[in-house]
Amino acid sequence: MFPRDFAWGAGTAAYQIEGGWQADGKGPSIWDTFCHESGNVFGEQNGDVAGNSYELWEKDLECIQLLGLTHYRLSLSWARLLPDGTTRHVNQKGVQYYNKVIDDLLACNVSPTVTLYHFDLPQALQDQGGWKSPGIAALFDNYAKFCFQTFGDRVKLWITINEPHVCAKLGHEDGLHAPGLKEKGTAAYLVGHNMLRAHATAWHSYSSVYRPEQKGAVSLALNSDWLEPSQQGCKEDVAATERDLAFTLGWFAWPVFVTGDYPEIMRSAIDAQSRKLGHSGASRLPRFSNDDPTILGTADFFALNYYTSRKVKSGGGCGQTLCMKSDRDAEEVLDSSWPICGASWLAVAPDGLRKLLKYIKDTFKNPAVYVTENGFSQVGLLQIEDVQRCEFYKETIMEMATAIQEDGVDVRGYFAWSLMDNFEWADGYSVRFGLFHVDFSDSKRSRTIYRSGREYARIISKYKSGQSK
Ligand code: GAL
Repeated sequence: MFPRDFAWGAGTAAYQIEGGWQADGKGPSIWDTFCHESGNVFGEQNGDVAGNSYELWEKDLECIQLLGLTHYRLSLSWARLLPDGTTRHVNQKGVQYYNKVIDDLLACNVSPTVTLYHFDLPQALQDQGGWKSPGIAALFDNYAKFCFQTFGDRVKLWITINEPHVCAKLGHEDGLHAPGLKEKGTAAYLVGHNMLRAHATAWHSYSSVYRPEQKGAVSLALNSDWLEPSQQGCKEDVAATERDLAFTLGWFAWPVFVTGDYPEIMRSAIDAQSRKLGHSGASRLPRFSNDDPTILGTADFFALNYYTSRKVKSGGGCGQTLCMKSDRDAEEVLDSSWPICGASWLAVAPDGLRKLLKYIKDTFKNPAVYVTENGFSQVGLLQIEDVQRCEFYKETIMEMATAIQEDGVDVRGYFAWSLMDNFEWADGYSVRFGLFHVDFSDSKRSRTIYRSGREYARIISKYKSGQSK
């Protein structure tokens, strides 16, 4: 059912699991700052210790082996490696830590899949303007080159930036993520633009300098819900859905996979809204210039983070002020047949993954796809025997198999989110995505496998041994 060499993985991110926020010379990141300011995170929680993977990595490795993973997706903490964000000062302890993680994985026959940036910008770079500043692209490129140089002999799958959409919108428009800016209708577009420039610059560096010898693949991880018209056949809903997809997935996938530039409907919607509200001057959606790296073609595969689905109708803005919501002019609603599980935004719709994979095949030129995140959380009373989550994984993985077999989508791997319970950003530890439970009240942060972890292990062993093609 799954191609030979299919990657069976699970993912984590540095800030969500490592802790050791000041250990051994690590510099602060924007998430350290954000969490230490009151009122930003559920229960004033933070990732100071989190799952303490900085000290307890061997326990994570045991979890990885218990699941039988072929791949493990982790992210590097930029500020652990380069405390002020630049290569002027390298923190050797940080290098040692990731060297050990990577070497241990390989010794256990698990391929490390490495994300360079998963939301945690060094605070020192935020102090110079962060992702809003054009200079960030060169700084990111230096960091990326440092990582390719240091770890690229062993890492063959790289993600430059995780979810630029989330970083841009939640961090700079909604203020719900670090750095907590609420500069509506402007900053997110600028941040997204600089993230694309940074990603493309690093991809070109890899391609010209490192790829010939290291022979790996590089992409960026894009999140998208599956979106469909609230009423099939209603022209306004169909158009709103198209706009909504352009503002989430298209924003980044269109430049990288299709044209080298933003989707036209995105730009025209933004510019129309600017005119309507009397906002003069240049388009709020920046333009790529001749000095920018070529954006088109800067992905060796499509990395998709899929969680949930939405129905879409037109409308839903923020009145007379500029904001992304008004630009998008699309309102997302839930289908009553989709159960809401765990986090309030997470409506369970496994078939949305199949539909989205088909859409990606048709729209983005049939790329090789890795599902780099997919999962389902628990909130409140935690059940170790989490039967519902077992069903979710089974159904979702079946939908993915159907996408491969019947729709001919070239899916190469699947990474469950997440290996273990962790710091779920603004929700702190109240939302649990792990295949392993972590006891955050225990200083040893004991890990216990959930039933869904056992189920995922069973699925992996079944398909790994019976792999065809
Ligand atoms: C993604 C993010 C992950 C994880 C997940 C579940 O947006 O990349 O870090 O938190 O959502 O909410």
